Amino acid sequence: ELDSLDTLVSLAKARGMIYQSSEIYGGLGAVYDYGPLGVELKRNIRDFWWKEMTQRHDNIVGLDSAIFMHPKVWEASGHLDGFNDPMIDDKQSNKRYRADMLIENEIAKLRSKDKAEKADELQELLDTAGSRNGVCEDLYEIIMENEIRAPESGAFEWTEVRQFNLMFKTQFGATSSGDDGDDAVYLRPETAQGIFVNFKNVMDTARQKVPFGIAQVGKAFRNEVVARQFVFRMREFEQMEMQYFVEPGTDGESYENWLSERLDWHKALGIREHKLRTHPHPEDKLAHYAEAAADIQYEYPIGWQEVEGVHNRTDFDLSQHKEFSGKKLEYYDQQQQKRYVPYVIETSIGLDRTVMMVLCDAYREEEVDGDTRTVLKLNPELAPTKVGIFPLIKKDKLQDLAHKITDELREDYNVLYDESGSIGKRYRRQDEAGTPFCVTVDFDGVESEGEDTVTIRYRDDMTQDRVPVSRLKEVIDDKMSS
Ligand code: GAP
Repeated sequence: ELDSLDTLVSLAKARGMIYQSSEIYGGLGAVYDYGPLGVELKRNIRDFWWKEMTQRHDNIVGLDSAIFMHPKVWEASGHLDGFNDPMIDDKQSNKRYRADMLIENEIAKLRSKDKAEKADELQELLDTAGSRNGVCEDLYEIIMENEIRAPESGAFEWTEVRQFNLMFKTQFGATSSGDDGDDAVYLRPETAQGIFVNFKNVMDTARQKVPFGIAQVGKAFRNEVVARQFVFRMREFEQMEMQYFVEPGTDGESYENWLSERLDWHKALGIREHKLRTHPHPEDKLAHYAEAAADIQYEYPIGWQEVEGVHNRTDFDLSQHKEFSGKKLEYYDQQQQKRYVPYVIETSIGLDRTVMMVLCDAYREEEVDGDTRTVLKLNPELAPTKVGIFPLIKKDKLQDLAHKITDELREDYNVLYDESGSIGKRYRRQDEAGTPFCVTVDFDGVESEGEDTVTIRYRDDMTQDRVPVSRLKEVIDDKMSS
């Protein structure tokens, strides 16, 4: 079991999974780069999602829309006015905090000190103040009346609580008139809007009937006030979103279906069931566009946190874009001979948070012969490397066969040839990378009578089988699909 996030951060760095951005310059806050193993893991998770959405559903099609969008999009979507977080500054240290998170920390502290009554009282105040679009004065009052201090400096000199828009702004073209000019463009804070503005294009060209969905994976950007906790809260991240267009009146049922389908997907990913739960949003905490919403949460080392959101967005977005663009964003149902603006059920999952969930869930430390082995018990389909191939020692005969096996398997699997260090060390390296199979070529296998054999060693229970080289791929295929 993983006891702290720090352990994961160290492993992710040491094994070339995730590095801080621009590390040689001291790093850039809440921006991360994926290394050789990380990029494979992330791609496998992305493919797992894409396959589920577009390949397994006849009525879901893909899209890849641009990050830059017309500035009017963000007016219509409500992000320009409403996509804010309440922030507060500690005047002594000049450090900036999210006001709602300060209060949440205080509540957690009270609970750990068995002051449940006081904690409940604060929670209720926080809930009724709202967080994202909440009234700032309320939060300020809670902080002042409860003498909540700055976590690091312990100081109690706060500025007022101000709303802070999370969108990154930049300019377009060479004739930019500066910050507030008409040509200001934004980096998209969610991929969803690219789907809404292409609704008509897709409807006109993809021959789909409502209900149908559009799926997209891509980068999103948010200038988060508080950016900590590794890849959980980043300023540049990747979302996998699907908008499902339904007839009004059928939205409630569709919302329930998608929530349960999505929870099943997390289980299929290999996440342990007791670490997953759904968490409905109370009505007074819904985002500006939502009629109903629930999180799918995972129990990270930092506690239960949202990995994915399922939202009933009603006809809010299409109606807004219809009004702002003047285009007919409607659906004509030929059978019923009626025209309507579809409702949207959205499933929205952060790819980076999923990578973090998968790593946290797979991490184990096990005692083996008085030693500790660290192993990632990843779903084989997600593992960055599927097979490690080792000649027992550096002798031509063993190396030649190991190379031959490597070349054969690489057509189907991501493989790694490794001849350095003791065999035990090579196994441990692959355990830490989550590689499900290791194949060792030894003299017993190449010098005995009959056909060549090798040993295959399984990551999770460390057992080994001896198999003929001619059957190796079949054995791996079999294990991969079981
Ligand atoms: N289109 C709806 C939408 O964007 P959201 O709840 O704001 O909803 C959806 O975001 C998902 O995106 C979250 O569940 C989370 O996994 C991911 N996400 C949001 N902000 C993030 C951030 N700063 N860093 C990493 N992932 C983030």
